[in-house]
Amino acid sequence: MLTILAAMSTDTLTLPVLDDAAIADAGFVQLPVDPTLDMFAEIERLKKEKNAVLLAHYYQEADIQDVADYVGDSLGLSREAAKTEADIIVFAGVHFMAETAKILNPSKKVILPDLNAGCSLADSCPPDEFAAFRAEYPDHIVISYINCSAAIKAQTDIICTSSNAKHLVEQIPDDQPIIFAPDKNLGRWLIKETGRDMVLWDGSCIVHEIFSEQKLVRLKTRHPNAPVLAHPECEEPVLRLADHIGSTSSIRRFATENPATEFIVATEAGILHQMQKDNPGKTFIPAPPDNGCACNDCPHMKLNTLEKLYLCLEYEKPTIEMEESLRLRALKPIERMLEMSEGVK
Ligand code: 13P
Ligand code: SF4
Repeated sequence: MLTILAAMSTDTLTLPVLDDAAIADAGFVQLPVDPTLDMFAEIERLKKEKNAVLLAHYYQEADIQDVADYVGDSLGLSREAAKTEADIIVFAGVHFMAETAKILNPSKKVILPDLNAGCSLADSCPPDEFAAFRAEYPDHIVISYINCSAAIKAQTDIICTSSNAKHLVEQIPDDQPIIFAPDKNLGRWLIKETGRDMVLWDGSCIVHEIFSEQKLVRLKTRHPNAPVLAHPECEEPVLRLADHIGSTSSIRRFATENPATEFIVATEAGILHQMQKDNPGKTFIPAPPDNGCACNDCPHMKLNTLEKLYLCLEYEKPTIEMEESLRLRALKPIERMLEMSEGVK
């Protein structure tokens, strides 16, 4: 019965009352979906009916990207969330991204298809340990990568993304010492790029740390004309082999603007979908990881599926909730980032 209810239009049927405790427990709406349902059409219908906007990160599966109203990197997604007039924000990304949208839009409903979609990098920075770390450097300001929890944002002076990090660090007066958290790889790259000596929190992303330097060298030998495009969350040996280092959106742009016909891409594989759509005649080769399954998927990002997205929109659950005093403290450094990075692409 639930299958039928979940599959039919809200015009004709009343939806079943869902058990909130069960959703909180599972992290998503656990109902079967009729396999014959045209989920693309249903998602479009629900977005319109509910005045909902669907924001998706480049690491989402291709179907989700194709049905989204906006696909982008963390900076683009934050900007979209800050300016949307929709009543509901459906965030097809990971928890810290949906949380950022909620921080910017306390009166809107923000929903995430699967609350379990976390981030290893955000998890590598527990708030209590970070507070103790910060206390060791009382004269330092804190710049944190957006891949962190609201509790870390609340302990931060300026948030950054991989698109604007360099631009923001360069605006800090030379005599002002800086703590950079939580990604040590991005931090190291920024130190190299800006010449600023920053104190780094020891965090990292499981997906970007898995690329194999040796296999990449071998791949480059076989494809000598293919520029290597890498995300700054990758480890230094991989970044040293890169021809272009930047955020997902800058990697996408580079692939279109550069005349090469093949590229090696060292970031999560979801980005290849847009790169291929932009450049049907070019070839994109995922950089080889050092794991058995040879896959560059982020296990957190890929917890969101089209089915979960559909159910989340239909039932408007699970929602992102946050205590107001925490939200206000986390808002300040995000607003600072948005002000300080106007014009950054
Ligand atoms: P950007 O898309 O902002 O480059 O970030 C990548 C990332 O790891 C998101 O989790
Ligand atoms: Fe987090 Fe890495 Fe996944 Fe991005 S790719 S969401 S940084 S675990």
